[in-house]
Amino acid sequence: PTHRLAGRILTPDAEAYRAAADLLQAGEVVAFPTETVYGLGADATNDRAVARIFETKGRPSFNPLIVHFETLEAAAREVEINPWAEALAEAFWPGPLTLVLPRKADSRISLLCSAGLPSLAVRVPRHEIGQNLLHAVQRPLAAPSANASGRISPTSAIHVAASLGERVPLILDGGACEVGLESTVIDLSGPRPVILRPGGITRAQLEAVLGTVDEATADSDIKSPGMMTSHYAPSLPIRLGATSVNANEALLAFGPKPLEGAAVTVNLSASGDLTEAAASLFNHLHRLDREKLAGIAVMPVPEQGLGIAINDRLARAAAPRH
Ligand code: TXA
Ligand code: MG
Repeated sequence: PTHRLAGRILTPDAEAYRAAADLLQAGEVVAFPTETVYGLGADATNDRAVARIFETKGRPSFNPLIVHFETLEAAAREVEINPWAEALAEAFWPGPLTLVLPRKADSRISLLCSAGLPSLAVRVPRHEIGQNLLHAVQRPLAAPSANASGRISPTSAIHVAASLGERVPLILDGGACEVGLESTVIDLSGPRPVILRPGGITRAQLEAVLGTVDEATADSDIKSPGMMTSHYAPSLPIRLGATSVNANEALLAFGPKPLEGAAVTVNLSASGDLTEAAASLFNHLHRLDREKLAGIAVMPVPEQGLGIAINDRLARAAAPRH
């Protein structure tokens, strides 16, 4: 019966939260905004509900999922909180940071969320709609980005509808995401903290709390299988580090002096502001990807602060497709 509601987009009020909670408690998926990107949520304690996420995204099932909680205390029921986790949660939760921690032996979270690993990725998002939804449903929510597998992450309800519309019964609309890049994923389950995925919290911010932090190299990608090289692919080919542009290309510009001669130009940030660039990155890629052109040329973005996460996503978008 739920397919009658397929792709329904609601600006949440009390009734919409109730509808979303009912769907989730019945094992359905619901898309909702967080401050990073839109998530495709399901009851993390229900194996069949979690399996529906993979089915809906068409995602390879060896990818582990992030589980979202209303509070640190709720997360602590499922994973071992160590002193690093405590310090980072204190500094950055609720917010765009995901902690990979050892699962507790009596955790109720579906083993599918861990994809065979002894760890679980946990996050407390700060977006009001994500928080309200977690509160309404009273269960932890497994939620990857709400896009079809291998495509660009959604930063608006329209992106979700375009990518998954018919397959999702309900999309909660919170407008554009504030951060616009996925959360930073840091593994705290080993002998030293390791950044598995750069994201909304920068390495410098993490190091201000923990001291020196390592960044995962190509060999450690197995530990974060969602980081497959071509994970963020638009359909048009991407050309990075452009210093000139062709008339049949779209231009993704950065800074006050966009290159001239492109068929279409959008600027990540005319003032060179990396926070603004991160927030608009996926939105601009979605927009340019609809053009009938030879490709998207991308101007260089400085490799510092949030620029590291932006360049990581751009490199994946430009990588050879599988
Ligand atoms: O901002 C975000 O993180 C969004 C919002 C919805 O929260 N979610 C998101 O989920 O980006 P997803 O599934 O697209 O990416 C999850 C990342 C992947 O790189 C995955 O490999 C990693 O987290 N991950 C999840 N569980 C893990 C674990 N136990 N060990 C190592 N990496 C893990
Ligand atoms: Mg994703």
